[in-house]
Amino acid sequence: MADRRYLVTAALPYSNGRLHVGHIAGAYLPADTYARYLRATGTDVRFVCGSDDNGVAALKSAREQDRSVEELTAHYSRAQQADFAGLNIDFDIYGGTHQPDYVKTHEKFSQDLFLNIYQKGLFTKRTTQQLYDVQADQFLPDRFVRGTCPDCGSGNAFGDQCEDCGRSVDQQTLINPVSVMTGSTPQLRETIHWYLRLDQLQSRLVWWLTQKKDAGACSAAWRPIVLNQSLGRIEAEGLPERAMTRDLTWGVPVPLDDPDARGKSLYVWFDAPIGYVSFTAALCEQMGEGVDGYADWWKDPDCKVVHFIGEDNIVFHAITWPAMLLATHDSNSVQGERGEYQLPHNVVANSFMNIKFPGKDEEKISKSRGTAVWIGDYLETFDPDPLRYYLTAVAPENARTAFDFDDFIARNNGELVNAFGNFFNRTMSFAHKYFDGKVSAPGNREGLDTAHLQRCANAVSRTAEELEQCRFKAALSEVMALARAGNGYFDTTKPFMSRKTDMEACARAVNICLQTARTLTTIVAPFLPDTAEKCAKMLNLDENWRTWASATDELPQGRPLREPEILIKKLDARELFGD
Ligand code: 2FM
Ligand code: ZN
Repeated sequence: MADRRYLVTAALPYSNGRLHVGHIAGAYLPADTYARYLRATGTDVRFVCGSDDNGVAALKSAREQDRSVEELTAHYSRAQQADFAGLNIDFDIYGGTHQPDYVKTHEKFSQDLFLNIYQKGLFTKRTTQQLYDVQADQFLPDRFVRGTCPDCGSGNAFGDQCEDCGRSVDQQTLINPVSVMTGSTPQLRETIHWYLRLDQLQSRLVWWLTQKKDAGACSAAWRPIVLNQSLGRIEAEGLPERAMTRDLTWGVPVPLDDPDARGKSLYVWFDAPIGYVSFTAALCEQMGEGVDGYADWWKDPDCKVVHFIGEDNIVFHAITWPAMLLATHDSNSVQGERGEYQLPHNVVANSFMNIKFPGKDEEKISKSRGTAVWIGDYLETFDPDPLRYYLTAVAPENARTAFDFDDFIARNNGELVNAFGNFFNRTMSFAHKYFDGKVSAPGNREGLDTAHLQRCANAVSRTAEELEQCRFKAALSEVMALARAGNGYFDTTKPFMSRKTDMEACARAVNICLQTARTLTTIVAPFLPDTAEKCAKMLNLDENWRTWASATDELPQGRPLREPEILIKKLDARELFGD
């Protein structure tokens, strides 16, 4: 039985488009790195994701592409899954809120949670005015209407959010609204919706979020960007009620026996996070534990739920979603008693990533302007690890960063190949050339040798500390610093000289380098899984190398090694840009 249990989620991507490097850097790569690290520590972990199929985004794309929404979402859900697999982002389950294998369970969980909150009296049924397209004969929720942003004046605002300033928009305040369906000017008409009483939950949410400023020594304090956008926003603006239903039929039907609920669905941002729960249930069922097994992950205070998201999802994961979970509680406990939904242990958000083409200024990633690196395109030519390395090394953990093509090549060739790859290469080559392809004798270790082994042990614990705190960039720096220290040790002890004069000293130095390579293999694995597999193969390790605790296990003298192979390929700028 593992000492701790974690349920790790990555934001459910809308299944209406392809994935680019910004998506991966934002949520999926840090989540995968974290889940891999947790597994290595023996933590009982489930890593859950799937497609966000409901709501207006998919409907709008299906309409633009003249396809059925079922076919469109199935296509992109599969394509995105293939991209994730190509990058070794290794979910335990990849569901889909409207995919045939998951939709029934998902509807049930979503409707049950809605009814639970309804029975607690935390929805208000309200008559409200909404924009209506007379030509299309339908209401225009969310992104079905666009116009000028009342806050920043940009013409790029929709009925839910402004694309330019990122603020949420009340569709009635949009200036010069236009229907996306027909291009006509919509009218205001009355409709009825159910509003979540966020105002009633506000003080408990604020109390809970305030705890997250300093979550104590054994737990991660939340990132400032998450607290600023959640706590900061509540303090500045308060929490008005929010409509959790829509005039749409594509989604989870509103489960009320009320004629006013007919033809309406739950708001996509209400059902999407419930996907984390319904997919956990589906996973439990697939594992033979039955759907009710989800409660061990969601309703047990011993299990920690950690959400990985991009910046634009913060408000929903740090306010709306915890509010929904809190609204189901019978007890006064904010976090939740055993048997009640636990609120997230951490919500880990990254900023956006820009892009910088050679010779051009940094700019925003944009699908319409074609300024993106698409994962499918990348994987046609390159291995996953160079991208995993780069996106972690320049991760937008505290502020926007850019995918810079020149920097991508420079870091691959200068850091991964020259520091990491070269250290393995020279160590393995030496062992093969001068020690019969076996682990050389440790001999009588001297101060420099034991100090270097201590350096390895320190790297293991420091990398773990950073990973525990979700500081992935800093964690990767620790790994790379050890690779550089390995090269430094090699340069200082000069086995290439001692092999001519003092074979015992040469064996000792190569032994220490092999021990360093052994440590690096385990601690690089959460970041670069394919590279770690190759290292483990070269060092002829048994399966135990995957456990974090094994990182400082010593390779025994005489252990046969396998043939060295190229760990990381040098990249040529022409491969990326053509001649
Ligand atoms: O921003 C997005 O891509 C959303 N589909 C994320 C949803 S995350 C969760 F709530 F499901
Ligand atoms: Zn705006």
